[in-house]
Amino acid sequence: MDFSVDTATDAVTDSFSDTPDPRLRTVMESVTRHLHALVREVQPTLAEWNQAIEFLTAVGQMCNATRQEFILLSDVLGVSMLVETINEAQGGTDSTVLGPFHLTQSPRRALGDSIDLLGGAHPCVVSGSVSTVDGRPVPGAQLDVWQCTEDGFYDVQQPDTQPAGNGRGIFTADDHGHFWFRTVVPSHYPIPTDGPVGKLLNTTKRHPYRPAHIHFLVTADGFADLTTHAFVAASPYVDSDAVFAVKRSLIIEFAESQDTTAAAAYGVHTPFVHAQFDIVLGEHA
Ligand code: BEZ
Ligand code: FE
Repeated sequence: MDFSVDTATDAVTDSFSDTPDPRLRTVMESVTRHLHALVREVQPTLAEWNQAIEFLTAVGQMCNATRQEFILLSDVLGVSMLVETINEAQGGTDSTVLGPFHLTQSPRRALGDSIDLLGGAHPCVVSGSVSTVDGRPVPGAQLDVWQCTEDGFYDVQQPDTQPAGNGRGIFTADDHGHFWFRTVVPSHYPIPTDGPVGKLLNTTKRHPYRPAHIHFLVTADGFADLTTHAFVAASPYVDSDAVFAVKRSLIIEFAESQDTTAAAAYGVHTPFVHAQFDIVLGEHA
């Protein structure tokens, strides 16, 4: 068939008609239709298309075992959040992005332990419950938590100044589905800006900051895994997260407490900051 702007899309989608895997065929046809629609809408010059190719090449070249610039690109374009939200379990706590700082091997800790290995001066207690959609506790639920320091850095970003495992821990909810741990209030922080994604944000006058948050990956037998954050309500950027990951239900008050009885029970001094984050696990899809 003769090539023309009008026939190009059908020619390419037809070329995938023998794809044995039906899902792959659907995906490739859709990629073709949407890419062609973008080109028809934007009408790039050859130089602009070349610039696009060079940008994607730079994104790929920035990737290595510890840096995934394509995920960062997906994050700042809101695609990671779209995929996360489309796949979240119904009825459970809202989910949000995993991010690049999760480690598959975090230290196991006992309820009440501190994940702040630097001994910060301003203690914070995070407590909550894990329950089912109909309100039953989930004893033994596993909570993998990780956060940055009060200065906005994860342990893996400062291996020379932070002990490995700082800001991290895996906790097991008690027989009533309750959990509690000690920490410090995390800071807002910028996503990595030293690569092509950072350059894109700068060129488009977007800031790179994420509001302060604590990551949670909550798992329990028979329930869908939950990847989420507790966002610090008073944090800057809570209304303009660089990766669009804030959901209203995840914004939590980190409130100052003078409660000496609670402080003694948690092993902290007053004043301390207390955040209550109750988690609901949905069923498997
Ligand atoms: C994070 O919260 O750790 C994160 C998420 C997306 C991009 C960069 C960092
Ligand atoms: Fe984070």
